[in-house]
Amino acid sequence: MKILTVIPTFNEIDALPVTLDRLRAALPESDVLIVDDSSPDGTGQLAEEMAAADEKVHVIHRTKKDGLGGAYIAGFTWGLRRDYDAFVELDADGSHQPEQLPDLIALLDEADLVIGSRWVPGGSVVNWPLHRELISRAGSFYSRTMLGLNVRDITAGFRVFRRSTLEDIDLKSIKSAGYGFQVDMTFRVARQRKTIREVPITFVERTVGESKMSGGIVVEAVTNVTRWGLAARASTLAGKLAGTR
Ligand code: GDD
Ligand code: MN
Repeated sequence: MKILTVIPTFNEIDALPVTLDRLRAALPESDVLIVDDSSPDGTGQLAEEMAAADEKVHVIHRTKKDGLGGAYIAGFTWGLRRDYDAFVELDADGSHQPEQLPDLIALLDEADLVIGSRWVPGGSVVNWPLHRELISRAGSFYSRTMLGLNVRDITAGFRVFRRSTLEDIDLKSIKSAGYGFQVDMTFRVARQRKTIREVPITFVERTVGESKMSGGIVVEAVTNVTRWGLAARASTLAGKLAGTR
């Protein structure tokens, strides 16, 4: 199986080399694609140097900071033009343990999407302030209820997709820029009646650099989830009405 691990970066100059070393050790067979949004701190330049030293490492640069969603779409599009069988999403900041990736990949022969989950038994978060945990749990609960999904950690950013899962999604139609991208992808996969499996992970809050989470990102996610949820209900209702006529 040919694997591509996509790592989006914005100002991760201290964290990226550590994460990359751990990833290369934990999953040496995986190619790596760093998608940097012209980080002012020079992360893109560092990524170029790492790519020059390791033939499995590749980099693409985007001209400006344009959101996690867009970065992943650019990375997946790059990979789908090549012959990868599986695509991994991994944060650069050390929150996702590359050593747990084999657990996720092991489930890929029985699932179309495997999610590294904080909110299933055995999953956990280390060093998060209470407000972050509340936002994440509430966000997952609201999304799960609104969208009718049986997934505990809908916003999780530690994932493995089968190639066919991404091929069956119209990536160009995705507008979600922030963490709502993760909800968007989960909803699209679920609506195709594909199999989603969650694996417990330990999410460790970053010790270097800064989170890019913002109020705008939360608002985008909540607005979209509400819109998608209402649209799905409206079309179910329309279907029922058509059926009774
Ligand atoms: N290229 C690019 N462009 N990368 C970005 C951008 C962007 O606009 N915004 C964030 N990133 C990168 C960061 O550099 C990091 O590698 C990763 O995306 C995650 O960003 P963080 O800022 O560390 O996210 P977080 O820790 O607050 O959020 C985590 O939890 C979210 C909610 O559960 C992530 O795992 C998210 O994926 C997840 O949705
Ligand atoms: Mn983080």
